[in-house]
Amino acid sequence: MVEKRGIGDVALRGRRVLLRVDFNVPQDPSGQVADDRRIQEALPTLHHLQTSGARTILLSHLGRPDGHRDPRFSLKPVARRLSSLLGQPVPLADDIVGIHALEMSARIENGQFLMLENLRFNPGEEANDPAFAAQLARLGDLFVQDAFGVLHRNHASTVGVPKRLPSVAGLLVAREVRELSRLVDAPSRPYVVIVGGAKVSDKLPLLTSLAGRADALLLGGALSFPFLAAAGHALGASRVEAGLEPDVAALLAATKSAGSEVVLPTDLVVDRPGATAPEVVHVDAVPTDATARDIGPATRERFLRALSTSRTVFWNGPLGQAEDPRYADGTREVLAGLRSVPGYHVGAGGDSARVARELGVMESFQFVSTGGGAALEFVEGVELPGLAVLPNA
Ligand code: 3PG
Repeated sequence: MVEKRGIGDVALRGRRVLLRVDFNVPQDPSGQVADDRRIQEALPTLHHLQTSGARTILLSHLGRPDGHRDPRFSLKPVARRLSSLLGQPVPLADDIVGIHALEMSARIENGQFLMLENLRFNPGEEANDPAFAAQLARLGDLFVQDAFGVLHRNHASTVGVPKRLPSVAGLLVAREVRELSRLVDAPSRPYVVIVGGAKVSDKLPLLTSLAGRADALLLGGALSFPFLAAAGHALGASRVEAGLEPDVAALLAATKSAGSEVVLPTDLVVDRPGATAPEVVHVDAVPTDATARDIGPATRERFLRALSTSRTVFWNGPLGQAEDPRYADGTREVLAGLRSVPGYHVGAGGDSARVARELGVMESFQFVSTGGGAALEFVEGVELPGLAVLPNA
């Protein structure tokens, strides 16, 4: 693991700190913060800056407004939530690098905060435009990177600004790197990976990277369908992602030559038009009008057997359509069973944290990342530009 300089290594009192956070949080239909985990996880860094007397300017994006000001993606509700969590005002500068931001940033006192409006309202953010990065950098004396979820992006606030200011990692970034590195640097074995979700094509790089490193890959959800199809199973009316035969064959060959095992579902929970309740069927006997929605009880048992001797577990993605309570049992039972297995368990990527919380299985994990794509790329072993640019300790 490469250790980065951190906020404990620099003087903070009276300095204007540009703090990049990932407050890209889910919103409810009225635009309010629906889940504030990413804000909560940044609090240790915010408290450290506050008590050290820094003058903190928060930078974040929210959603994908594509370089245009769009009130649906305003950070106003986020600033309000942060302010109530901190118990002190967090004013919002609505012009990002304009006159308001300049004036407001000049007025911050030691231990106070200011937030800039959504960085992605400016096209310069995602383009990593040098002029925009320079305007942002002028607002601060020091850059603190605590937005783990966006470290895989080559944007002005992740790469352009740290190239222009003295920079350090925040406490959340340091923790994410420390925890996720345990999956990359010599994980205790057996190392078992559980991957679910909807699309194989999205996860091919992850699966390819894990094929040679994990001892077993347990596959569920629609992600397992192309593998089941390759093994000759007809999956009724289930939608099987097309055109993946060569990739699936290459992955299976890679896992085989690495001596690792791919474990596929042997039974499925399906729904059929007109049926009053879901049915459990063997993968060899899926009726032509049936759609697979979850892994069946025999598969859950098989997965739990594989997990029972594991020492390291990495989980990404639900094993069925877990947002529907009728099809959540497979994911819930496997992840809940993990709780009694000693070892190091990590969840990461996409909606994994939300799924784990909604199913009540957070306790099964020693660590659940705040990162989506960034966490998956880290676990794949890809160098993240927003991390590479930070100086080593
Ligand atoms: C995330 O939610 O994964 C991060 O905030 C990055 O968002 P993005 O995929 O829109 O860059």
